[in-house]
Amino acid sequence: MALGERLSALLCGGAVVLLDGDLGAGKTRFAQGVARGLGLTGIVTSPTFNLVLEYPVETGDGSLAGTPAPSLCPNPTVPCPPAKEPSPVSVLRHFDLYRLEQADQLDDLDYFALIEEPDAVSLVEWGSKFASQLPLDYILVHLKVDETDPNKRFLELSAEGDCSQELLGRFARSEGMQPTERGGQYD
Ligand SMILES: Nc1ncnc2c1ncn2[C@@H]1O[C@H](COP(=O)(O)OP(=O)(O)OP(=O)(O)O)[C@@H](O)[C@H]1O
Ligand SMILES: [Mg+2]
Repeated sequence: MALGERLSALLCGGAVVLLDGDLGAGKTRFAQGVARGLGLTGIVTSPTFNLVLEYPVETGDGSLAGTPAPSLCPNPTVPCPPAKEPSPVSVLRHFDLYRLEQADQLDDLDYFALIEEPDAVSLVEWGSKFASQLPLDYILVHLKVDETDPNKRFLELSAEGDCSQELLGRFARSEGMQPTERGGQYD
């Protein structure tokens, strides 16, 4: 949760964070951390039965006390999302694709239109479920329960696309994370 909260400080409008890992791995908990970091104080629940839940984020001076203002893309020279201007965050959407059986059901959700909205941050539980339907630019957070201590979680972060790779690189440096041999992935 704390890591999600710190990641939120770097997320710009248009950012997409896919969360995967087994049932109970901590995807919703991570999403709650991001939400808290964006200044959302209410309870962010699992959208399993709703498929997507939406939370308005206050921007600029209206941001909640004690929380960082939702940020622009950290590096203005890197368009974020690609080919678009950096944009502040005004809405957080929390998807859960667990109950979807087929990729074409994403259209019923208007999934791609929603995640491409330039002022939205999208968190997607089971977001890598349909390998043929991944966004162009995303951060992937893979969560795993520690086999020896069920109260611990391992997280592996990776990114696809220029903006998310830049953003993840910055985040990893700020966290002191080490890239793995696979390059661009962080434990
Ligand atoms: N980092 C963590 N440290 C300790 N406990 C955690 C952590 N993350 C999640 N948990 C606990 O694990 C349980 C499952 O967490 P969570 O609901 O976030 O998982 P999930 O991956 O969203 O599950 P699902 O696949 O059912 O959506 C909860 O009881 C939660 O409190
Ligand atoms: Mg969940």
